[in-house]
Amino acid sequence: MVTSAGFVRRGLVERIEAILPGRIVSVFDQVQPNPDVLDLDAATAQLRRLHVEAVLAMGGGSVIDAAKLLSISLRSPHARPMAEAIASQQLASGNGSRIPVFAVPTTSGTGAEVTPFATLWDRTHKKKHSIAGAHVLPSLAFLAPELTLSLPPKETLYTALDACSHSLESLWNRHRTPVSAAFAHESLSLMVKALPIVLQQPDDLRHRALVQQASVMAGLAISQTRTAVAHAISYPLTSHHDVPHGLACSFTLPTLLETNLDMLVAAGSERNLLKRVLEMLKSLRIQDHISSRIGAHALMQLIGEMHAPGRSENYNGVPIDIPALLERALR
Ligand SMILES: [Fe+2]
Repeated sequence: MVTSAGFVRRGLVERIEAILPGRIVSVFDQVQPNPDVLDLDAATAQLRRLHVEAVLAMGGGSVIDAAKLLSISLRSPHARPMAEAIASQQLASGNGSRIPVFAVPTTSGTGAEVTPFATLWDRTHKKKHSIAGAHVLPSLAFLAPELTLSLPPKETLYTALDACSHSLESLWNRHRTPVSAAFAHESLSLMVKALPIVLQQPDDLRHRALVQQASVMAGLAISQTRTAVAHAISYPLTSHHDVPHGLACSFTLPTLLETNLDMLVAAGSERNLLKRVLEMLKSLRIQDHISSRIGAHALMQLIGEMHAPGRSENYNGVPIDIPALLERALR
């Protein structure tokens, strides 16, 4: 079982052991936010001796990503599989050998439980690697919205914004299809209905469940398209300033959505829905959250790194100038 220390403290392991007696051979609760090459190689060395048959991941995006990566590294013949994989590009293609992963998200945003991607961070070199392919798709995803009830307000907001970013990024995406757009639209319509209520009433389980469904659908949308420019802009903010992913990939959304509204409507999105999304995003004052974490000058200094291959080129909207976009987004 891979989970966070917080859930271990709250008794989650005992609850699972009661359901699956004798099946949890080890609990790994040392996943750091944004799983790192060195940490995962150390975890692999530690867990290998136990000959585990499957990984049960219960946590946020970092926990699920770590579980996806461990499911491959635990089958690898290499002593330091993650470092080796980066050096040889082996994980990117994948030889298909892994143990099953059962993913139970405890946040509503990354969609990691349904995406064939995992992000591996190399803290030493301040780099991010994206591992993609059927070999990183969880075998099963279970939704238990009550697990999201303990999410603090900021994490609820930032993870939900990540899901909004996934939906929108799949819409202004050159890989957009009618199927990815259907997932994105459904996700956005659930989000505008449920997120404002969840932010006001964090104990509202029914609306927590809807936000979680919205996150899954946004995950299914980017499974087909991958993300685009808002994510490309986000990565240096997370690498250099530890800005939470959902915040870093969403502060540009109101500006991008406003810029692309007519284009998206022409491509088949409903104007009314997008206007409601835009109003909701504006009302959340995301720029205040970002400004409290990184100054405008420091942000502008990262512009040279705001290009991510396989992300930036996916953007298929109205041409944008990144400095001008950032300036508008911070206003
Ligand atoms: Fe994201």
